[in-house]
Amino acid sequence: MTSPIVVFDSGLGGISVLKKLAALMPNERYLYFGDSANAPYGTREREEIVRLATDAIRPLLSERPKAIVIACNTATAAARAQVQALAPSVPVIGIRPAVLQAEAAGCRRILTLASASTLGSASYAEQLAQCRPGTDVLSIPTPEIVTYVEDGLCDRAGLLSALTKALAPAVKDPVEAVVLGCTHYPFAKDVIRTALGYDVRFFDAADDVAHEVRRTLEAGNAREESDASGDIEFRNSLQTPQMLSKSRMLFSMPV
Ligand code: DGL
Repeated sequence: MTSPIVVFDSGLGGISVLKKLAALMPNERYLYFGDSANAPYGTREREEIVRLATDAIRPLLSERPKAIVIACNTATAAARAQVQALAPSVPVIGIRPAVLQAEAAGCRRILTLASASTLGSASYAEQLAQCRPGTDVLSIPTPEIVTYVEDGLCDRAGLLSALTKALAPAVKDPVEAVVLGCTHYPFAKDVIRTALGYDVRFFDAADDVAHEVRRTLEAGNAREESDASGDIEFRNSLQTPQMLSKSRMLFSMPV
């Protein structure tokens, strides 16, 4: 069997990235692992995120992955180097909030939604420092969206009420762009738009990541050459039939 591309997230959110990967490279084999037993990561200390992410990825190395995609902004910011150290010869590709993409598209007032850990990271501070002067970036942690997605998008009314409170500064003083800086958030775009009460441009980095993975595999001559149909396997630290059916449901949703 061909080597898989391992796609990892703290839970089900990375499925929004898996969708882009599978659309771009449908003939590859994907092994998706969600650490839903420990989600959310983003409210934890950095050392704990490093431990959880490396503990989750280490056993997957026996599958001899051709690439590891950290489809989690939080784990990328906290643990990318440590994940790479686990498997020095395997390319590790992470994801960061698409603030610079929103800025390059001409948006001057930007709202970044991400985990508290991502927003407090050195990597996020570096991105903000690269924005041109005059760019106004409002950053709000919204862990309730992670819970909503992990629960299979059940309590829309509860999420809307939480977001209406959390996003009040962006309701009062509207933004041009919302950066979805957590891979769970694309599944809640409609709730975010409703909470804001106006139309806005959304940015996330999933497409860029998918293209980076393709470029990396091509550079290493590791792209699957055959036109056989690919394969996607879902695994979860809560390996229950419910988690697996939620994974498939999210994979079938447009994002
Ligand atoms: N999908 C993760 C991310 O992109 C969720 C964050 C969390 O587990 O708190 O950051």
